[in-house]
Amino acid sequence: MARIFSDKKLVVASHNEGKVREISDLLAPFGVEVFSSAALDLSEPVEDGQTFIENAEIKSRSATGESGLVSLADDSGLVVPSLGGIPGIHSARYAYNPWSEERDFNYAMDKLNLELGDKDRSAYFACALSLAWPDGHVETFEGKVHGTLVWPTRGNNGFGYDPMFIADGYAQTFGEMEASAKHAISHRAQAFKKLINACFKS
Ligand code: IMP
Repeated sequence: MARIFSDKKLVVASHNEGKVREISDLLAPFGVEVFSSAALDLSEPVEDGQTFIENAEIKSRSATGESGLVSLADDSGLVVPSLGGIPGIHSARYAYNPWSEERDFNYAMDKLNLELGDKDRSAYFACALSLAWPDGHVETFEGKVHGTLVWPTRGNNGFGYDPMFIADGYAQTFGEMEASAKHAISHRAQAFKKLINACFKS
């Protein structure tokens, strides 16, 4: 049995305001007051785990240790098995363009497509969520969505690697789908469903 979250306050262990807003919206029905790491001036820990779950735990434990509040963190990325699992936990870093010295997902998708060549184009997005309590208890959940990487990229919706990813059973890339359609099937949605079913009571 997972531990039930019964507090009134929760830290979302992220400095990304978009992510904090999305998570706050998902938790709105449970009457939780959400604070971001940035609002509480919490530090950003080094994400040196080997898996999405390890990195999510590093972030949630760090935030709960500094704030004394239950903290929720997520870690996500794209995994390409035929390339040994890259970009995986390095999905954000893989997009660093050395010429512009910025994160650039057109550059990242181009690089990935070249690395793929005629190898198997199966891929999946994964999202790990970690909920950490100040007494050291942690609950983790993972969601995945399997699909194929296409070229050329299609669509401008979403973010990151969305324009080259088609989920199994669908015709549009995540970059072409409406946000609500992507959010119904995404790795993040699946991980959240598991978290809410296990740890939140409405
Ligand atoms: P982080 O968990 O915020 O560090 O995100 C890791 C990286 O994974 C992002 O910068 C994106 O490159 C990639 N990623 C995670 N989720 C998605 C998604 O839903 N669509 C496209 N790219 C994603």
